[in-house]
This record gives sequence, C-alpha cells and structure tokens, in this order.
Amino acid sequence: MTYAHPIPNDLDSFWMPFTPNRQFKKEPRIVVSAKDMHYTSADGRPILDGSAGLWCVNAGHGRQRIVDAITQSANTLDFAPSFQYANPAAFELASRISSLTPDPLNRIFFTNSGSEAVDTALKIAIAYHRARGDGTRTRLIGRERGYHGVGFGGISVGGIVANRKFFGSLLTGVDHLPHTHLPKLNSFSKGQPEHGAELADDLERIVQLHDPSTVAAVIVEPMAGSTGVLVPPRGYLQRLRSICDKYGILLIFDEVISGFGRLGTNFAADRFGVVPDMMTMAKGLTNAAVPMGAVAASEAIYDAFMTGPEHVIELFHGYTYSAHPMACAAGLAALEIYREGSLFDRVAELEGYWEEKIHSLAEARKVIDIRNIGLVGAIEMSPRDGEPGKRGFEAMIKAFEKGAMVRVTGDIIALSPPFIISKDQIDELVDLVRDVVNEID
Ligand SMILES: Cc1ncc(COP(=O)(O)O)c(C=O)c1O
Repeated sequence: MTYAHPIPNDLDSFWMPFTPNRQFKKEPRIVVSAKDMHYTSADGRPILDGSAGLWCVNAGHGRQRIVDAITQSANTLDFAPSFQYANPAAFELASRISSLTPDPLNRIFFTNSGSEAVDTALKIAIAYHRARGDGTRTRLIGRERGYHGVGFGGISVGGIVANRKFFGSLLTGVDHLPHTHLPKLNSFSKGQPEHGAELADDLERIVQLHDPSTVAAVIVEPMAGSTGVLVPPRGYLQRLRSICDKYGILLIFDEVISGFGRLGTNFAADRFGVVPDMMTMAKGLTNAAVPMGAVAASEAIYDAFMTGPEHVIELFHGYTYSAHPMACAAGLAALEIYREGSLFDRVAELEGYWEEKIHSLAEARKVIDIRNIGLVGAIEMSPRDGEPGKRGFEAMIKAFEKGAMVRVTGDIIALSPPFIISKDQIDELVDLVRDVVNEID
C-alpha cells in the first residue's frame, strides 16, 4: 500500500489503550487529519466518522471557533492552578454548564476525563453522607453491563466481567443491579423498550439485603453506551429515582456519552424526565478538542460541605489540571457552537430519519437486534460459533477499509455520528454498514 502520509517508524513504543496491539501494529489504522464529518486516513482516504470519534466529537471535527479559543487561551494563560487560585474561564464555563443542567444540579466540579468524573462523584457521595453525620452510608450500587470508565471506583461499580477477570475483586462494599437488556421481549425496539421497568425494583431487594443505612449511592448510565447501546425501558429510571428517594440514597447519572445533546436534549435526564442528584460528563463538553470532564452536583450536596471553619478545605479532592484554562476555553467554544447551531434540536429532528434507516438493517444477514435512541444506533450480530466478538472485530476493520469509522462492542456495531451529519451521509453510513454485515462470514 502506498501512503500519502508516512506511517511512524516505531510502532512498538506506544502501548495502545483498549486495542489488540499485535494485530493493530501489523495493519495500522492511522488517521492523520479530520474536518467536519470526515477523518483522513494515512493512505489518504476520507473516512466517514460514524462514531464521533469515541462518542465525543458532537459538533464535527476541526471547528474553527474551538481552535481559535484554544490558541488564544494558550497564548494568554498557559496554566493556572485551581487549588487556592483560579482562572476566570473556569467560573464562566461552570456557569454555562449549570445553565444547561437540570435544576438543582448547579455546582460543577471539573476533572480531566469521564473516569475521573465518575470517581469524583462516588467520592462526593460518600463524603456527603459523612458530612451530614450519616457516615455508615458507604456502599455503592452499580449495574451489570454498566461502563463507568477505568478508575478503580468506576470499574468496581461498572458491570463488565473483563474488569473482574483482569483486575480481581476490586472495591469492596459494592453491589449491582441487573442489566436491562431483555432481547426476548424487546428486540428491534424503536426508542425506549416497553418491557423491563420492574428490573429497577431489584434495588429494593439490594437495599433490604444491606440495610438502607449502609447505602450511599446508585450509579447508572441513563442509556448504557459502551456495552452495546442499552436504552432504558419505559418507566425504569423513574422507579430507580423513587426507590432512591424512599431510602435517602443518592442517584448518579453517568452522562459521559448521553450528555450534550446525544439524545436530542441537553442531557438524558431531560429526555427521560428524571433528575438525579449528580451527573458525570466529559466527551462532548469540549467537543473532545481538549480533555475535560465534570460532575454536576445538586446545591444541597454542595451546601452540605460548606460548614466548619472557612479556611479549611471542604472537599479534599481535585486534579492538577481541574479547570485547565485551555480546556475551559474549548468548553466555552463548544457550548457556543451547540447553542448557535441548535445542534441538540438537530439531533431531535434527525432522530426519526435515523431510526428508520438504522432499522432497515434488520433485513441484513445475521442481524439479531437493532436498538436506537437520539443519534445512537446499535446493530447486534449473532456471534460466530466459538468466536464471540470476532465478527464484530472484522466488521470494524472492514468498515474502515470501506471508508467509515464505527465502534464495536463484542458483535455489536454502535453508531453515534457527529450531530452535523446530513441525511445523505446517514444513507451512506447505513449502506456501508449493510455491505459490511453482508460481506463478513
Ligand atoms: C458512561 C461512561 N462513563 C465514563 C467513561 C469514561 O470516560 P473517559 O474515557 O473519558 O475516562 C465513558 C467512556 O466511554 C463512558 O461511556
């Protein structure tokens, strides 16, 4: 193959995350630039971005406004600590975010990633109960098939078997709700599935097992993204909310994927009409141009910490790069682009067309389920005998050869393009995926 751009000489030194390194380094999939809906591969081909990078480039690539904001920020204030000092953009961005989050989630703590946002929220939950004199509440409840990043807190409340297999027993004092994937009842659902709200009632059982006085928080993704797009059954999140209320347990929504318009609303909390006590976010916050995450906490949670002598730190937590000036600049520019372009409304407008197109893949060979909501879709293929995940892996490689970036989890192809995708590009993406699915064994 001739490359328009040189492939790096040393492919060995970079230990790649969440990648089969040996396979990749034999057949590298390297992208060298990106603009709007497309990457350019090292061999000079346009690659349609069917996954918004990693569910994060919501406004499309190379937005000039963000580039300018980052440049200006780097030229003006390269770094300022957020411990005991601050930069003005941090306050401005927190204020903008809180105008988007549902009330009363108006106190914003900055991190550098979704994983850090999750660990931050879990720590706040435990410290909040302690601050109120309820220090026995330390137990955290997650959900099977939940993905909450890669920190020890996140993998402990997450429900991914590989994390237990590779990293052992993880944090103690954690329990899990059942996942909400009911293929026998709900396959090929459009939007929210009908069946499964009662799965939330398992929280009652778990709470009774451990006693409410030991339980600090429940954390779920309102829509589970990384484990294959599991859309919450109708009424499910409402039931979780009311059980948490009944027992004084904090409810945390992990909105790292679903935040910033992916479901056609500011946050999934708005789409589903359920307000949690905290939300984690990252990815779309800066359109992924600079790493940044955040936790939005309710005013009541924040206020619970604001006691004691005023010279003493109230929450013993933070990162060197919390509210980094360049990330704040990128965040402010990204939120402005979303607002000016009404990009979240655009997701809502495209959803019907997207749904229809995604579900047209049901006719393709070996497709056993299709799920969708907002500008997210999942095409689940049957696993090959004795080789679970191989078909999905091959689909990802073939899609790249054909000119699209898609994300796979096992044998599930997940699609989540930037919000600027046109109807023609939706057709192109879906047709390409159809060919991929038909062509692989
Ligand atoms: C729901 C959710 N939480 C947390 C994370 C972790 O985010 P990061 O990779 O930025 O640490 C992700 C990443 O995909 C996610 O989907």
